[in-house]
Amino acid sequence: MANNSIRSVPGMADVSEPEASWLRELENAFVETCRCYGLEELRTPLVEFRDLFAKSLGDATDVVQKEMFSFTDAGERELALRPEGTAGVLRYVASERPATEDVRLFYVGPMFRRERPQAGRRRQFHQFGVEMICSPDPVADAECLALQVDTLRNMGLQKFGLKLNTRGQIEDIGRLQEGLRRDLQANLSALCPDCQRRFQSNVLRILDCKREECGRVVGALPRLENYLSEESRRYIARVYEILNGMGIRYEVEPRLVRGLDYYVHTVWEVVHPGLGAQDAVSGGGRYEVEVGGRRIQGVGFAIGVERLLLALKREQAAPQTERRTEVALAAVGEGARIENLKLAREIRARDIACLVGLRSQSLKAQLRAAQKAGCRLVLIRGEDELRRNVVRIKDLGSGEETECPATEAVLEVQRRLAEGGAGRS
Ligand code: HAM
Repeated sequence: MANNSIRSVPGMADVSEPEASWLRELENAFVETCRCYGLEELRTPLVEFRDLFAKSLGDATDVVQKEMFSFTDAGERELALRPEGTAGVLRYVASERPATEDVRLFYVGPMFRRERPQAGRRRQFHQFGVEMICSPDPVADAECLALQVDTLRNMGLQKFGLKLNTRGQIEDIGRLQEGLRRDLQANLSALCPDCQRRFQSNVLRILDCKREECGRVVGALPRLENYLSEESRRYIARVYEILNGMGIRYEVEPRLVRGLDYYVHTVWEVVHPGLGAQDAVSGGGRYEVEVGGRRIQGVGFAIGVERLLLALKREQAAPQTERRTEVALAAVGEGARIENLKLAREIRARDIACLVGLRSQSLKAQLRAAQKAGCRLVLIRGEDELRRNVVRIKDLGSGEETECPATEAVLEVQRRLAEGGAGRS
């Protein structure tokens, strides 16, 4: 049996190189695109009062019912690790921003859901999220969808599909649920046990149940839009029209409802063909939530970062990592090790990545470590070089070794890297 003290918790994984660098590149592209759209960054706590999620996502949702990591702290407070980012953002907006203001925010960070771990499904995962706080307006939804598509494109993803639908305005939700129950009633016994339970608690979820028997029943239902008011139908028609005008491609998915209760009007999912069963790279939509006595309306989305990375790998489009360590400093003797620390800082001041050994080692071991790190040059010093105030420069590519005055070492390194085309100017 594996030793628990060196195992990570199931569904929660370390991110090491090269993935860690890829994620940083993706995050940079995401942040840059958001800034281009005029968004500000927000960082909310990982832990919130449990009630915030229960009230905003909906008590009957799977996330709240089954998937939250909830606990009571020493002060008897009911808390939870955040399962998603929207609720925390809305709490911030309700407490800190005037109701008259439209607010555009983006966030990046870990989320936690106690789901069964499998490919594309983790218990700790990461989201790149966007929330635009504004009243319902098809133009705002289209702007948010444009940002959804542009973020993914700018992160290098190409073969994704955007699926769109509407849940109608908030006044329609009751009618929608009633209509669905009426039409499903006759076939209730043909549904899976989970959906039979959902019939009362969360009838909309039956629409996107993946079980075959439920798919058959749902397939015979009228289109969701038929249950909605004229106003709701006009709203989504306008969204489609604006997207067409902007050249944004989408597919109408008349059964798409999404798993969180706060959604109204436009909802969407971005899917990728390389992902298998968990094929949603991102999900979003318009919402309306009451937080602290204030009704907050907005539109947003969240990209699942692990799934995005998987999709990029399938497209052979994993990001290029820009920075590599070019130079290593090797020392023979304590005096040279300390002098090397100083020289390393001068080299780094020129924005050249360089490595010093963290312990005293043979020169051979230091050269091996430099090779392994992918360095092009090794600067070598011992007692003799220190006395003569020189540095030996070894080119790991050609094996050639030269010597230069210590005072010129930084410039010489810069010149040699530029010559080899590997340095950054
Ligand atoms: P969501 O659909 O629950 O929406 O999650 C968004 C994305 O997070 C999913 O499409 C998926 O890529 C990723 N994701 C969700 N659960 C997991 C998991 N267990 N493991 C790995 N990835 C996962 C939301 O969270 C909403 N807050 C989105 C939103 C923002 N709607 C409006 N504003």
